[in-house]
Amino acid sequence: MSELGWGRHYVAVEPTHFRVDYVINPFMDPDVQPDPALAWRQWFDMVGTLRGLGAVVDVLPQRPDAPDMVYAMNLGLGVVRPGPDGPAPHVVMSHMRYPQRRMETRSAQPWFAEHGATTSYVGRDGVGAHLEAGDAFAFGDALVVGYGPRTEELALKHLATELGVRVRGLRITHPGMYHLDLAFCPLDDRRALVCPSALDDASAAALLDLVPEPLVLTEEEALTTFCANSVVVGRTVVMPSCPDRVRTQLEAWGFEVVVVDVSEFHKGGGSIRCLTNPVDITLGRDLPLVPGGEVVLPPE
Ligand code: ARG
Repeated sequence: MSELGWGRHYVAVEPTHFRVDYVINPFMDPDVQPDPALAWRQWFDMVGTLRGLGAVVDVLPQRPDAPDMVYAMNLGLGVVRPGPDGPAPHVVMSHMRYPQRRMETRSAQPWFAEHGATTSYVGRDGVGAHLEAGDAFAFGDALVVGYGPRTEELALKHLATELGVRVRGLRITHPGMYHLDLAFCPLDDRRALVCPSALDDASAAALLDLVPEPLVLTEEEALTTFCANSVVVGRTVVMPSCPDRVRTQLEAWGFEVVVVDVSEFHKGGGSIRCLTNPVDITLGRDLPLVPGGEVVLPPE
């Protein structure tokens, strides 16, 4: 069993303008606003916990006009390309499905560039394929990408070609698990939290085939506890909450569970993973290189 090679360097957005201004997922209700002071404390505890575990967390300021920008996972897909001159960070910027979030990348792109990353787009400003990075995770022999509610199928082709990797697509059909990170969390090289009810039958079967030892979550566990929306640092799983059954299995596998309450952020429909974007997935180490790229889709 070996630990994930990635998950030690994150980007997060300071929640100075976090609100629920519009409805783009079933959790959002503008009549139920987060408490700004409590949200701030919860976010600060989460970042402190990750740093305490040895992770690096870089922080971007939040745009006042972008209340969902706190869900930094969706700013872009960060990877590291090993090169002759050392590691070269690259971010494929998201192209948000909903116009309400598109301004976020206009601030994030220059921030990534100033912090030493090259950037690219699969689409922008409403033109081209939609990609939301909360749909994309390295696991096994591929970048596993959920598509349907947010990311579009065409984006998979762009990612495979641009990064030179295999992309395995999974069709998301559940309106409440609109990003893959609400239903899938890689734990190490063999194990992951998975909620098959997020996907159509063929994709659920494909995901279960891909993960040698899945910890299968019920629809209710995933939706009511956000427990798949967790972050793994080495052998520690940082979770928004953890059903007893899930904790027992994680501990039997040798993981330590740390629970951090980020309930204010559940009002916008996201939890710990959505708030933290890992930027250290290393091509050739965490994700095998496939020259020219390859897309594998589940059967219709
Ligand atoms: N309100 C945000 C949206 O609907 C929540 C994003 C959650 N992020 C995530 N990676 N699942 O876009």
